Amino acid sequence: MTSAAPVAPKGPPEAVRIHQFTTTSGADTVEVGRKLVRLLQPPQFLILRGDLGTGKTTLVKGIAQALDAAEPDEVTSPTFTLIHEYDGTREGKPVKLFHLDVYRLEGERQLETLGIDELLTPDALVLVEWGEKFKSIRKKSTGEIAISSAGGDARKITVTLKE
Ligand SMILES: Nc1ncnc2c1ncn2[C@@H]1O[C@H](COP(=O)(O)OP(=O)(O)OP(=O)(O)O)[C@@H](O)[C@H]1O
Ligand SMILES: [Mg+2]
Repeated sequence: MTSAAPVAPKGPPEAVRIHQFTTTSGADTVEVGRKLVRLLQPPQFLILRGDLGTGKTTLVKGIAQALDAAEPDEVTSPTFTLIHEYDGTREGKPVKLFHLDVYRLEGERQLETLGIDELLTPDALVLVEWGEKFKSIRKKSTGEIAISSAGGDARKITVTLKE
């Protein structure tokens, strides 16, 4: 005898807010990063999605700058260090900015060693490049920022925030 597979309950689709931007240069993407900060009320745990070299780290430069956390040239890719941490402020309140790149991590076990859960305090803005690779990150995320090429140096930036 076989038992029927459980049917997943069908709830209403998750409510999201979507914001879109287009940019035509790296400097332009830094500026969009600065503008985005007003949308990002901590705590946020966001996946930064986009092909290699599309501008994920470039966008974080603007976010860090607007938070008074770091100047754009101080923000570099956390490819090897995996996590970069900055202290900033937003609307007069302290913000912890965590910039991660999990491209090189393989499997949930390796990811666990990073201790991501501990980062997500009420004042945290956690941005994870390549976070979509991991189911545990997809489940925990409060949204994503997707960057895609729109030909040449043009990029489309889509911010999707869960309500
Ligand atoms: N419109 C644009 N927006 C962002 N970056 C751009 C744009 N046009 C050109 N660039 C250039 O593309 C490169 C983007 O590099 P960046 O390190 O930000 O990418 P990334 O998505 O973080 O890549 P990786 O997946 O390797 O970490 C930079 O050299 C930047 O100057
Ligand atoms: Mg990067």
